Order: sequence, then C-alpha cells, then structure tokens
Amino acid sequence: MNTLKDLLNYALETLQSANTVNPRLEAEALLSGFLRKDKLYLITHSDELIKENDVKLFKVILKRRAMGEPLAYILGKKEFYGKEFFVNKSVLIPRPETELLIDLIKEHTNDEIKILDLCAGSGCIGLTLGSELPLSKVTLSDVSKDALAVIKKNALILGLENKVKLIVSDLFQNISEKFNVIVSNPPYIPSRDILGLETSVRDYEPKIALDGGADGLTFYKKIIPAAKKFLVPKGKIFFEIGFDEADAVKAILSENNFSDIKVYKDLAELDRVVMGTFQ
Ligand SMILES: C[S@@+](CC[C@H](N)C(=O)[O-])C[C@H]1O[C@@H](n2cnc3c(N)ncnc32)[C@H](O)[C@@H]1O
Repeated sequence: MNTLKDLLNYALETLQSANTVNPRLEAEALLSGFLRKDKLYLITHSDELIKENDVKLFKVILKRRAMGEPLAYILGKKEFYGKEFFVNKSVLIPRPETELLIDLIKEHTNDEIKILDLCAGSGCIGLTLGSELPLSKVTLSDVSKDALAVIKKNALILGLENKVKLIVSDLFQNISEKFNVIVSNPPYIPSRDILGLETSVRDYEPKIALDGGADGLTFYKKIIPAAKKFLVPKGKIFFEIGFDEADAVKAILSENNFSDIKVYKDLAELDRVVMGTFQ
C-alpha cells in the first residue's frame, strides 16, 4: 500500500527524470487534481493510504505528463485572469501573456460596448471581458464547433450563458452585427516554425490554433480589411501578435485606414499586442 506522501515522491521523481520544468509544482497539481482535493490536503493527509487501483490510475496520468502532454489538458483546466477555464484538446491552452489584452481593452473602452472575440478558442478573452465589463455584450466566434462546445461550457461555469452570443464562423462569414471592439488572438506562428515548437505544444495543441500560414500573418491580412465592415466609427481592434510581428501588423492596419496604432509589450518585454482605431 502507498501513502499519499509515497505517491507524491514517486510523482516528483518521475517528473524530475522527465526533465519537467517545475516538477514539484506539477507533481502536487497532478496529485491534488487526481484526488480532487486542494494542495494543503496533500500536506495534512500525507500518511493517508491510497487504494491500489487509484495508485495504478494515478501512474497512468503521471506517465501522460512525463511523455509531454500539457498539465492543463490532463487536469482539464487552466487559470486565466484569476478564473478557471475548462480546456480540452480542441482548444489552445490560455496563456498568461494573453491577459494583457484584457487590461488594455478595460483601459481603452467603457463598459457599455459590443465586443467580438474572433478566433475565440476556449473563450478565455471574450468571457473574461464579459465578466470584467458587466454592461458589455460579447459575441464569441470560432471556426471549430468543438471549440464552441468548450466556450459554451465555460460560459455556463462562469454564469455568463445569457450574456454572450456564440457563433461558429470562418472569420466574419456568419457575423452580421457591428461592434465597438474586435479582439483576436488568431493563429500566428509561421508554418515552417511549427515543427520546431516544444513537444507539449506541437504534439498536443490543435494545429488549427497555431498555424498562421507561410509568414505567420495570414490571419491579420484577412481580418484587418474585413473588420472595417464590422466596426462602428471609432471602433477599436486589438490583436495578440507574435514577438516579431508588430511592424508588419502595424503596416497592415495603417494601409487599411486605422489610426492611433499602438504596440504594447508583455511582462517579458516582448511586443505582444497591437491596437488601432477605425478612422
Ligand atoms: C491562437 S488560438 C486562440 C484561442 C483563444 N482566443 C486564446 O487566446 O487562448 C486561435 C483560434 O483560432 C481558431 N481559428 C482558426 N482558423 C479560424 C478561422 N478561419 N475562423 C475562425 N477561427 C479560426 C482556432 O480554432 C483557435 O481556436
């Protein structure tokens, strides 16, 4: 029979051998997630005996992590802007740097606005805005039906189901309204760079969420000219971008008559967001 402490140590050693970056944190997160208890429970119940069958099941989960599957997919959740989002393999795992979009949109707009989150994935951007700006009306769209199912689940968990509109759409194809703000974190990795991504991204996250075409800019080139029809006068567009894409995206915005174009850096001092105002 294994105690909880034995299992935690086993997990730690397994993840250390697999060169996981934060083995202790991840071992604790995996075990507490598996037992559906908080991390304090692992300390206060370290001598608790774990049933053989549960030990076997936990070792299967641990092996998945050691092979490179992201923790968020194994646990089925990821924190974003202080809230927990359900995630599965149909959606990109929300990234901390994407939180910058939320801060900037809150700073540059008022509450009573209509927002479109294009390429919404898990819904982390649009749903967070819906909850941070309670008087706003938010539409979230994605080409993937499976992503929309994830957004629907997250909207329910966050109690936002009556406040948001969900639309399956290839970019603007099924969108008919105008918005004060369009926000998008589209796929932006150049196709040739996909193979060089770390295993946990390349082999597990959806390619449709990553691949930004030959130069990584395909989506900006499509979204920006089309967005003009879907923005009210003085409406704003906010994009997450790859660290080396700011100049190109700024140029596409100014060619399309956007003004007041600004670039913002993330906490790692990398260009991360470009915004512009429509006329
Ligand atoms: C980089 S992920 C961003 C997900 C989420 N907004 C986030 O920040 O975590 C890009 C998303 O774009 C979606 N997507 C790809 N091609 C699309 C298209 N043609 N029209 C709409 N969405 C698309 C993918 O399904 C994926 O969910």
